[in-house]
Amino acid sequence: MTSRIAWRDSFAVGDPLIDGQHRAFFSDLDQVVDAVEGGAPRDEVLGSFRRFLSALSQHFRDEETLLARYAYPELRGHSDEHTALLASVTAIESLLMASNSPVELNYVIRTLFASLVEHLVSEDMRYKSWLLRHTKPG
Ligand SMILES: [Fe+2]
Ligand SMILES: [Fe+2]
Repeated sequence: MTSRIAWRDSFAVGDPLIDGQHRAFFSDLDQVVDAVEGGAPRDEVLGSFRRFLSALSQHFRDEETLLARYAYPELRGHSDEHTALLASVTAIESLLMASNSPVELNYVIRTLFASLVEHLVSEDMRYKSWLLRHTKPG
């Protein structure tokens, strides 16, 4: 079994709200993976998935608000990526309701996890370094 990617302090962007959400992202998604891998009842899997989904969409909104506040020049592309990610996460909800294959679900959830982590380590870290260069602490 491949190991899951965990939160690292280097992911911190310096905004307490956003950092708290990024941190929670890992534990929330872990719960979904645990539910799928543990063969939990569909309602339970869906419940943790929906909590994850609503936290994620709130996070994307808050992140876009932060980036707008600092006039981040790549906000448009960044929020387009959020929209695309939310669309794929939402599509997975229907699969969770329809599929009876734990192997398939596990694969889909892990692929989803990978694409969200990829966004965090590439795009979010890009605005982090921009913010570091263009804002002063405090
Ligand atoms: Fe983010
Ligand atoms: Fe983002």
